[in-house]
Amino acid sequence: MAISEPIVILGGGHMGTTLATRWRQAVASTAGIHVIETSKDARAKFAGTGITVHGSIEEFNLMRGILVLAVKPQTYPNIAEKIKQHLVKGSVTVVSIMAGITLDELQKLTPRSVRLMPNTPALVGEGMTVACNPRLERSARNTITKLFETAGRVVWVEDEALMHGATAVSGSGPAYVYAFMEAFENAARKIGMPHDVARQLVVQTVLGAAQMAKLSDEEPMLLRRNVTSPKGTTEAALNRLLHEGKFMQLMEEAVEAAYNRSKELAEGH
Ligand SMILES: NC(=O)c1ccc[n+]([C@@H]2O[C@H](COP(=O)([O-])OP(=O)(O)OC[C@H]3O[C@@H](n4cnc5c(N)ncnc54)[C@H](OP(=O)(O)O)[C@@H]3O)[C@@H](O)[C@H]2O)c1
Repeated sequence: MAISEPIVILGGGHMGTTLATRWRQAVASTAGIHVIETSKDARAKFAGTGITVHGSIEEFNLMRGILVLAVKPQTYPNIAEKIKQHLVKGSVTVVSIMAGITLDELQKLTPRSVRLMPNTPALVGEGMTVACNPRLERSARNTITKLFETAGRVVWVEDEALMHGATAVSGSGPAYVYAFMEAFENAARKIGMPHDVARQLVVQTVLGAAQMAKLSDEEPMLLRRNVTSPKGTTEAALNRLLHEGKFMQLMEEAVEAAYNRSKELAEGH
């Protein structure tokens, strides 16, 4: 993708760095990719990356382009006024990835605001981004879609309430998959698989199964049944894993806990 406007990311933490790194690889930006980051240590990691780093909002007078808000939601209320003074002028489009900061709140900066939930696989171009602003003009929507498609897939939702679900499913979701992989790998080692072999088998199995699910029209339940022959090895494992619905129940409880926490954060708790 080519873009002539500056892309400025406020907050060079985990997610800000992920997006800046991906865009540095996948976006030809003539006006550059900039990160504003207060922490000196965090700034140091951008040395030699081609990403321009700045120490404070005051160094900027942004008139056009895309501003990504990637600071913690708790930080935002203290700096909103400064952001408005320095960073949201002219035709700047604001993209907030902050969990729980509402569109109503963002619209105080500009009506050209988008609330968005990315996830960390964006770093390898396999991210899932959910975006929301039903009133955003088509051209700004297209630019945001193209920009985040360089980091994976993008889905727009019209109902802002769904952003809590997006946070609980795709925003936090990579961590659930890593937890599953951790347990899977531990189990593989326990039955005698060497560490590096176990890692390769688990990673490729998860990747392959996800890729099949992505390309197939069939429900996961059917895909699962397709590899389960009666009295076979898979059935023996699934009889344990799915025993009395505990695994399904645990997943429901975990996702619901993230969903409820997202709502609490939005209420300032
Ligand atoms: N991590 C994820 O997987 C993920 C996924 C989706 C959405 N998000 C959202 O992304 C946002 C950032 O999350 P994160 O995990 O990247 O957090 P993080 O690692 O804490 O990054 C935030 C960074 O912003 C810096 N910062 C604080 N105040 C600043 C200011 N006034 N100007 C410039 N920089 C400032 C922080 O520096 P200090 O450490 O010195 O304060 C920190 O380096 C959050 O709102 C989160 O909800 C995260």
